[in-house]
Amino acid sequence: MNLSTVYMSMKLRNPIIVGSCGLTGTPDKVKACADAGAGAVVLKSIFEEQIESDLGNMTDEGAWYPEAVDYISNYGMQNAVSSYLELLEKSRSLVDIPIIPSIHCFGKGNWTDFAKQLENAGASAIELNTFILPSDPRRTGRENENTILDIVSDIKSQISIPVAVKIGSHFSSISAFASELDGCGVDSIVLFNRFLRIDFNIEKLNVINGSLFSTPDETEQVLRWVSLISPVTSCDIAATTGIHDGEAVVKQLLAGANAVQICSTLYKNGLGVIADMHGFVADWMHRHNYNNIEDFRERLSQRNSGNPAEFERVQFMKTSVKA
Ligand SMILES: Cc1cc2nc3c(=O)[nH]c(=O)nc-3n(C[C@H](O)[C@H](O)[C@H](O)COP(=O)(O)O)c2cc1C
Repeated sequence: MNLSTVYMSMKLRNPIIVGSCGLTGTPDKVKACADAGAGAVVLKSIFEEQIESDLGNMTDEGAWYPEAVDYISNYGMQNAVSSYLELLEKSRSLVDIPIIPSIHCFGKGNWTDFAKQLENAGASAIELNTFILPSDPRRTGRENENTILDIVSDIKSQISIPVAVKIGSHFSSISAFASELDGCGVDSIVLFNRFLRIDFNIEKLNVINGSLFSTPDETEQVLRWVSLISPVTSCDIAATTGIHDGEAVVKQLLAGANAVQICSTLYKNGLGVIADMHGFVADWMHRHNYNNIEDFRERLSQRNSGNPAEFERVQFMKTSVKA
């Protein structure tokens, strides 16, 4: 069975990409992902603050994105740029699958020159991990969206390798924003990042980290939006969040994804999940007489499913749950 696919003009041997996380944070771990059968890897993100600080542009820790402070205390600040380039170059020498560095960014600045260095160091593409928590009551959604669009336009004008933009789901009109990203020339939209959550300890009365890993039911939200957005954009789509097994991979491909990105299931169940996913997808394709992924990809997107209204039904009027 031919599991190969094209993602951002790159030929992948299969559509399963290890998403940006600690499992792609060292060259040996990247090699382990490739040996386990990944179609591509997205490297652990470098933060905009690290790049700016290396450039000598930023010293005020108070102005940092809160997550960057945590990240930098774990991964270090010194020589972040050279360490990241070394991660890319060493990984490049160990594996022959596409390697996609990831930059966590939330504002335009000098750090964008770094994308060119990544291109020169052998990056196959770049993923921008864009996130602005819409928590500031004085800042409109339009302002947040414009910031992301500005970053994308800037990066696109500087490099010739493909650019993916990973977004969260906090937009008042995701489809309209996805169309705008598409209009800026992005090569892929990654739907959706799953951000760190909060929880409360009701005995100690304090705030604690919420669940670090996704659960399989979280993939349903992604399925709706991949189905709705893939037909209205010309760029590729990578689905992520809650994809834990081969069945979920097939569903996202049917919705129109060109590839999927996985993390939580690898942490929970080990890298062998990738081979299990290959096996499931190949067996499913065999049972349905499909030889290639393109034979069925997007078959159940909103445009192709034959019942577009089904994708926009969000109220419970028609469900028949017995009380
Ligand atoms: C431990 C951990 C670290 C992560 N680090 C990053 C990161 O550096 N950059 C990023 O874009 N996403 C990061 N993510 C998010 C994942 O790439 C992915 O989008 C998210 O976990 C949803 O996919 P999943 O349901 O397969 O876990 C991280 C996730 C986990 C669990």
